[in-house]
Amino acid sequence: MTVCDIIQKKKERRVLNGEEISFFVSAVADGSATDAQIAAFCMAVLLNGMEEEECALLTLAMANSGQKTPRPQGGGVYADKHSTGGVSDSTTLILVPVLASLGVRCAKYSGRGLGHTGGTLDKLESIPGLTTALSPARFERQAEEVGAVVAGQTNETVPADKRMYAVRDTTATIDSIPLIASSVMSKKLASFADVILLDVKYGRGAFMPTPEKAEELARLMVSIGTAAGRRTAAAVTCMDAPLGSAVGCNAEVREAVAVLRGEAENDLAALSLFHAALLYRMATGASKEEAETAVRGAIRSGAAFKKFAQMAEAQGGDVRALEDPSLLPLAKHCAALTVSAAGVLDIDALALGRACALLGGGRQRPGQAIDHTVGFVLKKRAGERVAAGEAVAEMYYNGENGEAFSLAWGAFRTAETFTPRPLIYAVTGG
Ligand code: URA
Repeated sequence: MTVCDIIQKKKERRVLNGEEISFFVSAVADGSATDAQIAAFCMAVLLNGMEEEECALLTLAMANSGQKTPRPQGGGVYADKHSTGGVSDSTTLILVPVLASLGVRCAKYSGRGLGHTGGTLDKLESIPGLTTALSPARFERQAEEVGAVVAGQTNETVPADKRMYAVRDTTATIDSIPLIASSVMSKKLASFADVILLDVKYGRGAFMPTPEKAEELARLMVSIGTAAGRRTAAAVTCMDAPLGSAVGCNAEVREAVAVLRGEAENDLAALSLFHAALLYRMATGASKEEAETAVRGAIRSGAAFKKFAQMAEAQGGDVRALEDPSLLPLAKHCAALTVSAAGVLDIDALALGRACALLGGGRQRPGQAIDHTVGFVLKKRAGERVAAGEAVAEMYYNGENGEAFSLAWGAFRTAETFTPRPLIYAVTGG
């Protein structure tokens, strides 16, 4: 058997068996498959699809391609959540401390920004001193002692995904349902979470354009997780407009802190608490009402904010930044963005995400340092009625960038009538 035989078979729309999939994944992980072969395989899968069982085999082979994270000794239920990527989506920063303050542990690996989407690690690193590069021993200790830890994966975890993901990113092969499902679920299955929630985004700012496609991806991931013995649910949620009112690392951490302190009521708060309640139910068997009461109580009592500060401190962060926003500064220039005509506001998440990345908030090449201070603070929400000439957002920047500016101005439009699509379209599994 050769890697080329496997690509040929997938090119001919035939179903790969377990042996062929394991052979291919081992070749990806040990470096014997070339980038060109990985790209050809991914394009064949993107064009010809995969059967559900074939995709489950690919996921398990990828999950087993590196070191598995050992389960901490101390017991307890562990929850994990993964989003397929969005703009102004800092739900992880909120739900991890909410759950941990209620006794449901969250010890998770998160990612960096990708394309126009923001990354949890980048946001957390806005907190001065905080590190997301934790040794396995430190990760385990914090999981036990604090019950909340968010870190970056090591090179040893799921190396097959790391290579395939990097090739997909530069060969237009990201938006394939079986490839996204195997990428996301391989990382979840390599970890030890007992309950897993997948936030599958649909809309302009998401990899899945329609709710129907997102639901197909959600169902596939739930079936892979459930077959692997993990309690898995997925929520299909809207990413047409930014989820919260902040885009950009420092601005988003400020907003997450405001939600944790009970000072912000918006879609970000609503979705974070919805996710937290769903995971709490899955982890504890509580009823819907009990779970909602518990997560609201964690915010109201200050326990969730306290847990966030405890987690940040354990990772070396200066917790004064969570009390004093000036320690999470915004960029030195601020421009008000206005709309020319009165009407109902629509905000394009993709355009704003791209603009933020071009202002320095995202990477143009892997490993590049990013500017945590740039971004946007929205003054109006999508679906709100606004007047002609009204300022709808502030743009924070450190240097002129024509492309970013025109994307930002173009992201805000008004229409006679416009109804935002539902924030939560469907929930499956659980
Ligand atoms: N997130 C991942 O981890 N993998 C994908 O393929 C897409 C989003």
